Amino acid sequence: MSVIAFIHQKGGTGKSTLAIACSMALAQAGHRVLLLDADYQGTASEWAIRFGQRFNVESRSQIQPVVHKEIGRFMDKFEYIVIDAPPSLSEMTESVLRACDTAVIPMRPSFPDVWALPWLAAIITKLRNEGHTLSAKVIFNQYQGEDLARLKEELEPWKIPVHPEQLPMDAAFSAVFEGKPLPGPLAEAVLSLLEKDSGD
Ligand SMILES: Nc1ncnc2c1ncn2[C@@H]1O[C@H](COP(=O)(O)OP(=O)(O)OP(=O)(O)O)[C@@H](O)[C@H]1O
Ligand SMILES: [Mg+2]
Repeated sequence: MSVIAFIHQKGGTGKSTLAIACSMALAQAGHRVLLLDADYQGTASEWAIRFGQRFNVESRSQIQPVVHKEIGRFMDKFEYIVIDAPPSLSEMTESVLRACDTAVIPMRPSFPDVWALPWLAAIITKLRNEGHTLSAKVIFNQYQGEDLARLKEELEPWKIPVHPEQLPMDAAFSAVFEGKPLPGPLAEAVLSLLEKDSGD
């Protein structure tokens, strides 16, 4: 079983969109998927109420920072657990990072999104120092041809690899909230985030 979290304390970077798109793509590839909503905003849960059954994506909400304690309950039933994390830096951040084996950090190609990383990176480092095996990567989302070189430079000190491809700004991503799965190439691009060698 793999546990993937979409996580960043900056708001509006695409965590929920990518968690939902990823869950749909995995389920459509025949996998048993749990979409775990760890965000008090309830985006993933609301999506699941409307569309979960249609796509064979199960969902649970857990807004207490006990995700790492509860995750074991789902181990047998699901091949993938996809966590939609809240835009905060809190006990929940640590709980989600303890629960997952891959942390995907979506960012828009903008300095504020990049500048927020050190705090999250510090928690990742702390958990690794405690012996937790955790892969982490940044994905630039909502990409519109910006120059990424300076943004990547700013990210360098935090030693979190950047996924080699960007996800474009594309209305197909917003359409997941209307229950439309991503078209093939975009779905593949999202699934490539789960490959162990694509980054860390
Ligand atoms: N690649 C994309 N192309 C176009 N629109 C996108 C893309 N990614 C996300 N969006 C849109 O950006 C908005 C914010 O996305 P989303 O809600 O997934 O962010 P979030 O990180 O979960 O936000 P929050 O921090 O509030 O939880 C949404 O309207 C979503 O449809
Ligand atoms: Mg969200």
